[in-house]
Amino acid sequence: MNDTFQRWGTIVLAAGQGKRMRSSLPKVLHPLAGRPMVRHVVEAAREAGFRRCVVVVGPEAKALRAALGDSVVFAVQPESLGTADAVAKAKEALGDAEHVLVLNGDVPLITAETLTTLARTHEERSADLSFLTAQVTGPGEYGLVRRDGDGRVIGVVEATERDAAEGATAEINAGQYCFRASWLWERLSAVPPSSGGEYYLTLLVATAVDERATLVPVSAQADEVRGINDRAQLAEAEALLRQRINRRHLLAGVSLTDPATTYIDAGVTIGRDSVIEPNTYLRGRTSIGEACHIGPDSTLRDATVGDRCRIVSSTVEESTLEEEVEAGPYSHARPGSYLCAGVHVGNFAEIKSSRLGRGVKMGHFSYLGDAEVGDGTNIGAGTITCNFDGLVKHRTVIGRRAFIASDTMLVAPVSVGDGARTGAGSVVTKDVPAGALAVGAPARIVSAGRREQDVR
Ligand code: UD1
Ligand code: CA
Repeated sequence: MNDTFQRWGTIVLAAGQGKRMRSSLPKVLHPLAGRPMVRHVVEAAREAGFRRCVVVVGPEAKALRAALGDSVVFAVQPESLGTADAVAKAKEALGDAEHVLVLNGDVPLITAETLTTLARTHEERSADLSFLTAQVTGPGEYGLVRRDGDGRVIGVVEATERDAAEGATAEINAGQYCFRASWLWERLSAVPPSSGGEYYLTLLVATAVDERATLVPVSAQADEVRGINDRAQLAEAEALLRQRINRRHLLAGVSLTDPATTYIDAGVTIGRDSVIEPNTYLRGRTSIGEACHIGPDSTLRDATVGDRCRIVSSTVEESTLEEEVEAGPYSHARPGSYLCAGVHVGNFAEIKSSRLGRGVKMGHFSYLGDAEVGDGTNIGAGTITCNFDGLVKHRTVIGRRAFIASDTMLVAPVSVGDGARTGAGSVVTKDVPAGALAVGAPARIVSAGRREQDVR
């Protein structure tokens, strides 16, 4: 683990109500590139090497706690009394850090590099308070940085405390701060309430000026410090983040035919020389090997895909494809599917909780659920595992190099032995021995089975 900033503690502010989202989901849990907004913030700090992270949450924060898990510590702010109050609520959980990094939980595009620059500058300048600022067009709801005639910062003025009409471009307070811990804790309780009764953390900038404390503004790129208060800003941030993610993959040796219509979540990995075609969604913890061809029009969620696979116009969820698997067009691997090397899954094939052995062919509209299929077996068009009897699911086991003819119904629980065959349209209700042929509805055995070792 990177622990560059050992003497530091991090506080992530995530307790506000987020009214402007007009949502029953807490603002910081709205997803961005597949993970909750606040997780991007927590992970940027972790990636930069900050150790202890306290996330300030509201009283009802079950979902938030679940989303972040035990990688962080939580502090509760019972009422949304402002950002200064939120920081005060984290003091006990933070312990005795020498410096404190405070991050707004709703500024998710912040990068580890920028946080590193901020904290390094803070240390080098022995500052009491350092904070990020940025030049923004249409600064609307942000706190604005005020400077005197010599360009020295004299304070931050919140939107609620100033006239609506401000200049087209202005320097904003970006919402990331470094404090010398002793300086912070001594002054926090003295922050006066705003006109609306909230305690603004940003008033400490003026406090630092008044006291001639060491105050260091550090400038950041505007795109990195976009605060998200409503869904329009969320959509803009999503587009920016997507571009950033796509660029990372492009530079790492992945081809994206049309980056504008390629949607890759933050946690996805893709091997070199893979090509991602337009209108493709790679979600969650998906990982793709080298030299794969994915898309167009495909969705992969929590999928593990080996090298040299080809997936066209298909959906793969919580499933594994070994190398050289071909899927689609129009196939669907539902959760729990495992497709061994060289499997071919064609048009309108649906697979769920099933394992398909090496080289299995399932070329045309069929359904395999709760099934195990041995190496080299052919699944004919229209084959269905009737796995549900109306109450419970049953398994179907098919051996190696079996031939399941078109339109076979396999009424589970049932097994078909190695090298066995079924006739077209058969309804298999009883086990078929290895090497046997079963035909009819219900299917009867018309040619005797061979012992298993004969068909190997
Ligand atoms: C805040 C800053 C503003 C800055 C902007 C940058 C203050 C007073 N203002 O404004 O100067 O330009 O961020 O994006 O800090 N929160 C709590 N508890 C509270 C209130 C807020 O935990 O009682 C959390 C929110 O969940 C949010 C963050 O603090 O993640 C910022 O709060 P928000 O209300 O969004 O502040 P802004 O008005 O955006
Ligand atoms: Ca905000």
